[in-house]
Amino acid sequence: MSAKIEINCTVNEREKTLHAYPMERLLDVLREQLRLTGTKEGCGEGECGACSVMIDGSIVNSCLVPVAQVEGATIQTIEGIATEGQLHAVQQAFIECGGAQCGICTPGMVLAAVDLLKRNPNPNGADIRNGLAGNLCRCTGYVKIFESVVRACQK
Ligand code: FES
Ligand code: FES
Repeated sequence: MSAKIEINCTVNEREKTLHAYPMERLLDVLREQLRLTGTKEGCGEGECGACSVMIDGSIVNSCLVPVAQVEGATIQTIEGIATEGQLHAVQQAFIECGGAQCGICTPGMVLAAVDLLKRNPNPNGADIRNGLAGNLCRCTGYVKIFESVVRACQK
């Protein structure tokens, strides 16, 4: 097995120095080393979106990212979405509309919706469905998640 390496990156606006094996999954390093357990593991193979994080402004599945790839990167996790103690409009809308049940998919859903609204502040129904298409939920039937994103657009 290769030796651990040092990785410097920014996580939720704080500079971090990580020590990990190059092929360790970013998902595991975030959860176990940085204790950012909001990022969830669902499938572990790039299918469900539960492990979504933003890397340099793009949403990615952290279960597929070897930690060596984030040297110098700027990472945002679900813990970095609220600002100054204020929930993001998408988070607030998920609460108001009952968009979360067990919560495993919720961080990924919220990040996907935040990413969508950043790119398209006035999405139509098809845009919302496409924006959430990479995220699977086993609980809600998607209707309340969809309604949450519609509510967030109205805020
Ligand atoms: S846990 Fe990464 S996509 Fe499902
Ligand atoms: S709320 Fe349980 S998987 Fe979506």
